[in-house]
Amino acid sequence: MNTLKRKTAEKLSALVSEIYPGASLSADDLAGMLEFPPDPAMGDLALPCFKLSRTLHASPVAIADALAPKTAGGEIARAEAVKGYLNFFIDGAAFSERVLSEIAEKGDKYGSPDCGEGKTVVLDYSSPNVAKPFHIGHLGTTVIGHSLKLLHEFAGYKCVGINHLGDWGTQFGKLIVAYRKWGSREAVERGEIDELVKLYVRFHAEAEKDETLNDQARAEFSKLENGDPDNLALWKWFIEISLREYQKTYRQLGITFDSYNGESFYTDKMPEQVELLKRKGLLTLDDGASVVRLDEYNMPVCLILKRDGSTLYPTRDIAAAVYRANTYHFDKCIYVTSAGQSLHFAQWFKVVELMGYEWYNKLVHVPYGTVSINGEKLATRTGNVVLLKDLFAEAIEKVKRISAEKNGGTPCSDEIAEAVGVGAVVFHYLSNNRMRDINFVLEDALSFDGNTGPYAQYTYARTCSVLSKAGGRGAFTGGELNDAEIALAKTLATFPDRVKTALDNYEPSEITRFILDLSAAYNRFYHDCPIVTAEDEREKNNRVALTAAVNTVLARALSLICLKTPEKI
Ligand code: ARG
Repeated sequence: MNTLKRKTAEKLSALVSEIYPGASLSADDLAGMLEFPPDPAMGDLALPCFKLSRTLHASPVAIADALAPKTAGGEIARAEAVKGYLNFFIDGAAFSERVLSEIAEKGDKYGSPDCGEGKTVVLDYSSPNVAKPFHIGHLGTTVIGHSLKLLHEFAGYKCVGINHLGDWGTQFGKLIVAYRKWGSREAVERGEIDELVKLYVRFHAEAEKDETLNDQARAEFSKLENGDPDNLALWKWFIEISLREYQKTYRQLGITFDSYNGESFYTDKMPEQVELLKRKGLLTLDDGASVVRLDEYNMPVCLILKRDGSTLYPTRDIAAAVYRANTYHFDKCIYVTSAGQSLHFAQWFKVVELMGYEWYNKLVHVPYGTVSINGEKLATRTGNVVLLKDLFAEAIEKVKRISAEKNGGTPCSDEIAEAVGVGAVVFHYLSNNRMRDINFVLEDALSFDGNTGPYAQYTYARTCSVLSKAGGRGAFTGGELNDAEIALAKTLATFPDRVKTALDNYEPSEITRFILDLSAAYNRFYHDCPIVTAEDEREKNNRVALTAAVNTVLARALSLICLKTPEKI
């Protein structure tokens, strides 16, 4: 929790017992009532006293008036009673000194909510469908998912990241047919996943004209399910080719997974769950298919087995959840997918509850909105998609061009171009609440002037350069501070609460917005105040120390949303 809130709440709690004998309000209760006023004229922190009226049997105005004269001291310079509100104004120097020493002491652990100790979280994210394009629609699950993993790790949780690969299903029948008709080993080895996608797209185009292709595909998938060695070998090879490609993208993003157990992994684990569903009397026949009726819960039926007895997406998810519960004993199991799958998750979560699994309420679906690019929607089947790797490549190329223009013709290194280009795409994507539909425009993402990744990374590089000129990390010795310095300390102090909000709401964009706030506060400070050239030794030391604190916290915040932190751009 925010330290100012906690300390103020503790003080208020003691005051309340002193002024209102017999009444008691815990520090936690009071901390929950304290607010950060939107307008600094109303203080740095405020207590709306109407929230205490009932407990203290007094009017808000009387409470505020009684408490105000006794609250100053420590980080609180003064308190004003205004119309039933108690407004606190901080002592900038005392407050900044405490914030800075907290950051210096905790280092990159500053801001950790520490709530995950001894708990395990399983995160299912990215999970592309093998041999279908890995496109910009997957950016959401990949970066929201990984950022949530990093946030949970930061909070002390043990995390298990799972790539639930879409490596099973009728698309493999289609691909096998297409490969045998129009493909070749050489072409696939050379063209890698692009060639597989081409075959997949061609299959759909040809199947429009020739219906029988779909029957052939079903037959090939059936053979695969029954263990046909040729089809199995092809299937394994298709996965290998696809994974090779995904790994490049994951490497660029700095993402690794703890498990790649995809849908096929659960093939032999489904019959047991289907049996249980039957035993519990949950399965009904619906036009030959086996389903779980969910009318009572206002949802359509959840499909478990097709007419021909083959399993479906929900069946595999149920078996996977049981496996994870038994293997990892999770405290939470998080699934990050587009909002288009919300019903699917609501349905099978309910089925798991009806099956009697007591961990059903530990399953969490984290949905996100749609992405279009330059105003166009995506469509995998027609091949009208922007691949993630192409988008990253274009961003990297553009960063090189921009940096060459800025540097008299010499572009930055490949490593920096990749960190900035890929970072720009991720940052832009994570700038909005996850449920918002977004239209992606690369030019906006790459601008060095806007609220972008390059701007944030540039601010970080600026702190590195100041620290290197200063030859150390300074030491905060207090004394008078100006507005820009205090504003910076105040922004730094919000980080722990922002991390908590990001975790509680599964919302990495909270961190992105914090990064923008901190960058803005630092750049204002940088322009207003000479740092290494400050004449006064005390001032110089304070400012270098402020820069060092920004350096620590900005690096941590950027890393939490999968951005790299080059020291020079
Ligand atoms: N492969 C799926 C898709 O691309 C996403 C899988 C999400 N995870 C899950 N356990 N269902 O749509």
